Amino acid sequence: MSELDTQLRRRLTFAIISHPDSGKTTITEKLLLFGGAIHIAGAVKSGKTMKASVSDFMAMEKERGISISTSVMGFEYGGRKINILDTPGHADFSEDTYRGLSAVDSALLVIDSVKGVEDRTRKLCEVCRMRHTPIATFMNKLDREGKDPMELLDETERELAIGVRPVTWPIGQGKSFKGVYDLVQKRLLLFFPGEVQRPSDVVTIDDLSNPLLDQKVGSSLATKLRDDVALLSGVYPAFDADEYLSGKATPVFFGSAINNFGIRELLDAMTALAPAPTAKHSEERVVQPSEDKFSGFVFKIHANMNPRHRDRVAFLRVCSGTFERNKTYYHVRSGKPFRTANPTAFMAQDSEIVNEAWPGDIVGIHDTGTFKIGDTVTEGEEINFKGIPSFAPQIFRYIVNADPLKEKQYHKGLDQLAEEGVVQIFSKPHQPNVRVLGVVGQLQLEVLQYRMEHEYGAKCAYRPIDLNIAHWITSDEPKALKEFIDEHSRRILVDIRGTHIFMSESEWQFERIKANNLAIRFYSTSEMVADRAAP
Ligand code: G4P
Repeated sequence: MSELDTQLRRRLTFAIISHPDSGKTTITEKLLLFGGAIHIAGAVKSGKTMKASVSDFMAMEKERGISISTSVMGFEYGGRKINILDTPGHADFSEDTYRGLSAVDSALLVIDSVKGVEDRTRKLCEVCRMRHTPIATFMNKLDREGKDPMELLDETERELAIGVRPVTWPIGQGKSFKGVYDLVQKRLLLFFPGEVQRPSDVVTIDDLSNPLLDQKVGSSLATKLRDDVALLSGVYPAFDADEYLSGKATPVFFGSAINNFGIRELLDAMTALAPAPTAKHSEERVVQPSEDKFSGFVFKIHANMNPRHRDRVAFLRVCSGTFERNKTYYHVRSGKPFRTANPTAFMAQDSEIVNEAWPGDIVGIHDTGTFKIGDTVTEGEEINFKGIPSFAPQIFRYIVNADPLKEKQYHKGLDQLAEEGVVQIFSKPHQPNVRVLGVVGQLQLEVLQYRMEHEYGAKCAYRPIDLNIAHWITSDEPKALKEFIDEHSRRILVDIRGTHIFMSESEWQFERIKANNLAIRFYSTSEMVADRAAP
């Protein structure tokens, strides 16, 4: 087997997705502890420190400028090189999360068993579904009185439109939580609150009628477990690796992250099951990770918050071949050669210069303005990776320059921050100077103003716009599309790729116009438009 094959089979690159407060930070920390990547709990910074104040956010970003390694955490475990992508917890930055999902091969979904399926979980799973990303699920906080586990499975299956396949099953809940039964390996994992799990807490029980079960968890919970398992086997098919790998079904684990219970089993299962780097789609062709020639794409750009250093870090996901330091590559969008002397690998607490990286790895590249989110880098082939969608923003504003003497700085700042993905910028079809800003959260508007002023010395102001629901539009009939655009010109915007967007004032209005224009297709992400447009 070639070095490339060996390396890529070892790689496991995944993102943890959840609604804030479900326990993502706690789980990440425990995973890193198992991986030996950190030695003390509390070392992982919580994304939720981003409370609604801009100054807090800026302070945190500044900190991150020095230790951006918290965005990607790599460690060795069970013979695999694991890369975990951290995704911002704050809903105002959810676009960053969606983009991060394009750079991973699978996802770990964390659900708070007290709250069940929540808002952001739905949206994130929709993105995973769109790409058939395999999802493993961890039901967290079983040490609290939460929803009935059967109800949780049912809710997950129904609301996330994915088959659920319980792999472990809880015994009791809250105060009476005794542990889980591993349905696949037929063993009991006993839980003792506040204590570290010991090897003796794992008891093999091949047959649930074994009285040892009653001894270990008490007769009443033993009886309930027997009944539950009988019921489960009638309702849910056994776990099937192919169903998981195609994103049709998710294995479900139960535990308590804060008590470090059930996490090792989860990590072991992911190490055994989760996919190695998968093929990635470019507009031109499907790229296999085992191809000799290097290719990759930029999914995130992180500004260096020190205003005296204009450089940024571009996060590049290696898709095929071997990435080598100091080798000259090809930046497809500009058609120019590109070479880097200091590519960075992200390990849990540190970033370090790497000499080579393999498919599945994320490399940090110091960038002085060459890269945009979505850019492809190759050894010369003209391909463009897909899958960096723009999502319909939820807040729109006209943006104007508030300091006429700083016109140049204003345009430069706006362009660069849009490239970084801080905001999306649209224009009116025949009025390129009228610019409309789209963001997913109010906080982004404030961050933009702050950064324009502190990094570019420019001032911007916002004006209200009465249109707030956006859909990318396309049609198989160019004439129908043109007529639609002409007829609704007041409601049309153009994105940076030149795709038209139809804006409406209300869902009701949108549904009415959609029903009257059957030749037009409406999409809530730009990726769908690109997919449909591809032959
Ligand atoms: P997030 O990154 O998804 O936002 O969640 P995070 O890990 O920060 O966890 C959110 C809260 O839930 C934290 O409490 C955390 O301690 C708690 N938590 C995580 N896992 C479990 C669990 O298994 N059981 C219980 N009972 N709680 C859990 P907090 O009070 O908000 O913060 P902290 O002061 O404990 O850090």
